[in-house]
Amino acid sequence: MRLSNLGTEQLREKDRSFVFHPSTHLAKHSRGETPNRIMAGAEGVYIWDTEGRRSLDGFGGLYCVNMGYGCTEIAEAIARQAHELPFAHVYASQGTEPVALLAEAVVEYFGQNMRRVYFGLSGSDANETNIKLVWYYNNILGRPEKKKIISRNRGYHGSGLVTGSLTGLPFFHNFFDLPLDLVRHTTTPHYYRQARVEESEEAFSRRCADELEALILAEGPETVAAFIGEPVLGTGGIVPPPKGYWTSIQAVLDKYDILLIADEVVCGFARTGEKFGSHLYNMRPDFVTIAKGLSSAYLPISGSIIGDRVWSVLEQGTEKHGALGHGWTYSGHTLCAAAALANIRLLKEKIFWSMSAMLDRIGKTG
Ligand SMILES: Cc1ncc(COP(=O)(O)O)c(C=O)c1O
Repeated sequence: MRLSNLGTEQLREKDRSFVFHPSTHLAKHSRGETPNRIMAGAEGVYIWDTEGRRSLDGFGGLYCVNMGYGCTEIAEAIARQAHELPFAHVYASQGTEPVALLAEAVVEYFGQNMRRVYFGLSGSDANETNIKLVWYYNNILGRPEKKKIISRNRGYHGSGLVTGSLTGLPFFHNFFDLPLDLVRHTTTPHYYRQARVEESEEAFSRRCADELEALILAEGPETVAAFIGEPVLGTGGIVPPPKGYWTSIQAVLDKYDILLIADEVVCGFARTGEKFGSHLYNMRPDFVTIAKGLSSAYLPISGSIIGDRVWSVLEQGTEKHGALGHGWTYSGHTLCAAAALANIRLLKEKIFWSMSAMLDRIGKTG
């Protein structure tokens, strides 16, 4: 269904004149010197533009359309919810059916010691929430100096102020006065590019952990609050970790009482073959960041899944100091939650079961 009868050139003209595109050379775009396809439709794994050129969307949007295009179950769930109740906030204990069911589904699918989900709209805002909660956690525990966050060079965690700082790619820092203080970066676990001659994967993993430990000691363990990492490095190169990496890193974090944030924005929801990358690599996160595959991008929604030891301190904090002052208008947006719930039900039916059956047949890696 078209919204106008404008042709491709007229749409391009409007796009160049009015749209501020992310991660784009603005001047070249305005002058018409960048490829400027106007996308118009999609089905299954294919997407096409207004000129009818069809592409195999191997990237799944921005690795987010996990279920593919044209899922009528998700589209219909959104339409039904839009007719019934398009929006009700979830501030101050008010709830909705889609949000309650979705939170239960997410906590159960992740398993381990996860307790609650805080919903947002993007991977960036979910990570901003995580960092605020890490700081709150340490303030409640009476450790106000334990605030620094360590991420990896080439990691990607969003492009907000703190999350853009956590991202370890200079492209996202340049001319924005980032990274902010309180953020540090450690070794990229990229065996192919970073390992020394004749260094085994396991030895390289141990070196990554030793370099992390050296950084923690140099900063002072009492100042380091959390470590954030993608189970498989995404935007920084789509690089799986070397053998033993997460086990070695986890041991260092345990030694210095440092929280682990598993950024599963890309790896979550069966993209690695397991439900979550954390499961594939036996990680024991305190926070899990989810977005993208949570709704297969049919509507924007993200989440911070909070583990046991953090949750109990958050509750203690509100017992002492009253309600927690954090929230977005669209935290737990009703329509987005309905879309995500329909998506998870489909994943459960079509992917999780057959993926794990397949992995059982061929033998798991990692
Ligand atoms: C691992 C990871 N974390 C966070 C983000 C940020 O998500 P968003 O672009 O929805 O803010 C991304 C985006 O690609 C990501 O890959």
